[in-house]
Amino acid sequence: MEKLEIGVKAESCVRCAKCIRVCPSGIFASSDDGIVTDKVNRCIGCGHCMAVCPTDSVVHSLFPKGTVHTINYAAMPKPEQVMLLCKMRRSLRVFTKAPIPETSLTDIVEAAHRAPTGSNMQNVEFTLITSPDMLKQITELTIQIFGEALKKLENPLLKPILKRIMPQMYRYVPVLKGLIRDYSKGNDRILRGATAVLLIHGPKKSGLACNDCNLAYQNGSLMAEALGVGQFYTGFVYMAMNADKKHRIEKLLEIDGKVYAGMALGMPALRYPRYIDRKPVRVKRV
Ligand SMILES: Cc1cc2nc3c(=O)[nH]c(=O)nc-3n(C[C@H](O)[C@H](O)[C@H](O)COP(=O)(O)O)c2cc1C
Repeated sequence: MEKLEIGVKAESCVRCAKCIRVCPSGIFASSDDGIVTDKVNRCIGCGHCMAVCPTDSVVHSLFPKGTVHTINYAAMPKPEQVMLLCKMRRSLRVFTKAPIPETSLTDIVEAAHRAPTGSNMQNVEFTLITSPDMLKQITELTIQIFGEALKKLENPLLKPILKRIMPQMYRYVPVLKGLIRDYSKGNDRILRGATAVLLIHGPKKSGLACNDCNLAYQNGSLMAEALGVGQFYTGFVYMAMNADKKHRIEKLLEIDGKVYAGMALGMPALRYPRYIDRKPVRVKRV
């Protein structure tokens, strides 16, 4: 990794010490000569020091000119607008064949990419599939993997053992059978006519990659909602990928890493005019 250079321009620094307060790695300190930096190799590259400085006095080799932007707080969505988005968001499973505008796809990925990541690793990667043939192959492989899983679960020799070690899997037997049956009749309940799939993946051996990918998912899905693009979580594809020791879907898409979340996307064939209350919130105050 290239050597980091982090410093504070003494001529413009007003010694407000905000960089000291926000830096999660404790790199900044106050001295008689002003704000100084130490052990810069501890920096996690979060950019808080750059974002907080009122006089643009922090110099950081990771953030050259053009990478730091002033926030227009007046343009922020109002809390009630954010709440409305949270209330009206939906999994949408009925799509038209119209392609999703490229700008919308770019915005969805950009919003997902902006989600926080553990230790600011920013290791989340995306595979965006819009090729109809690839989408079909994802569904077909998912159905094939479920068929193989069913065979195992129903094998009379294996069943007594599997039922003991993974009883929860037997809940899915009728679900998987239904998916396979419907697919054979031309009804794809895996991708449901989505015109794009965004798979979100990270390194296989990273403790927080799953959390990172799912936070990215939610950012992206709310952006999709705001753009009028329909989306739902591709849990069945995820289950198939997890069950498949041969990693056929990852190989097909040349994904090196583990997929932790996926979003099926398409232009909505309808709009929900109402939102529905959820079960009462369970929150414990301590
Ligand atoms: C982890 C997870 C997996 C899901 N998998 C699927 C899926 O494979 N197919 C699907 O149509 N919906 C899937 N969903 C969507 C849920 O069914 C949906 O969120 C739920 O029914 C509530 O509907 P809403 O999202 O419109 O509020 C999944 C959601 C989550 C969080």
